[in-house]
Amino acid sequence: MRIFFTGGSGKAGKHVIPYLLEQGHSVLNVDLTPLDYPGVDNLTADITDSGQMFNAMSSYANLGELENGTGVPKFDAVVHFAAVPRILINPDNETFRVNTMGTYNVIEAAVKLGIKKIIIASSETTYGICFSDGKTDPNVLPLQEDYDVDPMDSYGLSKVVNEKTARSFQRRSGFDIYALRIGNVIEPHEYAELFPNYFKKPEVRRRNAFCYIDARDLGQIVDLCLKKDKLGFQLFNAGNDHNGAILPTKELAEKFFPNVPINEDLEEHEALFSNRKIREVLGFKEQHNWRKYVKGE
Ligand SMILES: NC(=O)c1ccc[n+]([C@@H]2O[C@H](COP(=O)([O-])OP(=O)(O)OC[C@H]3O[C@@H](n4cnc5c(N)ncnc54)[C@H](O)[C@@H]3O)[C@@H](O)[C@H]2O)c1
Repeated sequence: MRIFFTGGSGKAGKHVIPYLLEQGHSVLNVDLTPLDYPGVDNLTADITDSGQMFNAMSSYANLGELENGTGVPKFDAVVHFAAVPRILINPDNETFRVNTMGTYNVIEAAVKLGIKKIIIASSETTYGICFSDGKTDPNVLPLQEDYDVDPMDSYGLSKVVNEKTARSFQRRSGFDIYALRIGNVIEPHEYAELFPNYFKKPEVRRRNAFCYIDARDLGQIVDLCLKKDKLGFQLFNAGNDHNGAILPTKELAEKFFPNVPINEDLEEHEALFSNRKIREVLGFKEQHNWRKYVKGE
């Protein structure tokens, strides 16, 4: 597929794009800074500028596309990752503005240009634990897609608004728009760097409900979304099968969420940030469990 990918130079995109190229897709990375990776086309553009999004989405991706003489080819899909990726990088109102207006602009341009598959990056933070003031409990565990999301921060709120924007445009168009509630992204080098400390101090991962998503497995999830049609609007938790913790799930829940009801029978290490839906609906099969890369002692 010919893919319009926003924010591909960032932490997640720089692993997802190589995965998509390996599957045979062609990718135009639309970002404020280019991604230096063989085979990817880059365009510098700002998602907060609607005109730039309409223009970029209806343009050539590279000089080679001029050769056929058949005009501008159409993009088959949009993958939208560009964002301010958490609170406390910019003032809260700016985080909210860039994320909500950027997402509105990208989805509106895609829908009005007839691009029928749109995948957007939402976040685990919608569940309201990650950036909450103080230590808060979710209403129920595991965290599943039908949860009544209620973040109290500008970033989490921006992602909830983006899910609503996506749903609105899906209803209007009938196209497929899938929002990935992405868990804490882990790059290959970060297992050795971060996980030993997480094992020593598991409490630092409580705000993430102990979730993680390997950046390459996230590539697989995006590719599965590209290949799976006719689901309309969908929310998917994008996480790995197990918690990023040594303790079994039952003990983790008892220790860190003692007052929260558990409404599913969970396997020994099954993630509290549930990925059952991507496994059942998309056929996700994780390739990069943390145990492959770091010893849990
Ligand atoms: N990293 C995580 O753990 C995590 C978890 C959940 C969700 N997410 C979401 O996944 C997506 C990717 O996250 P990431 O960690 O790679 O973030 P990142 O900050 O590393 O990358 C985001 C990219 O977006 C680009 N960008 C920012 N503003 C832009 C604008 N106005 N116009 C064009 N490009 C712009 C940046 O230049 C950057 O390359 C984001 O939507 C983020 O909110 C990330």
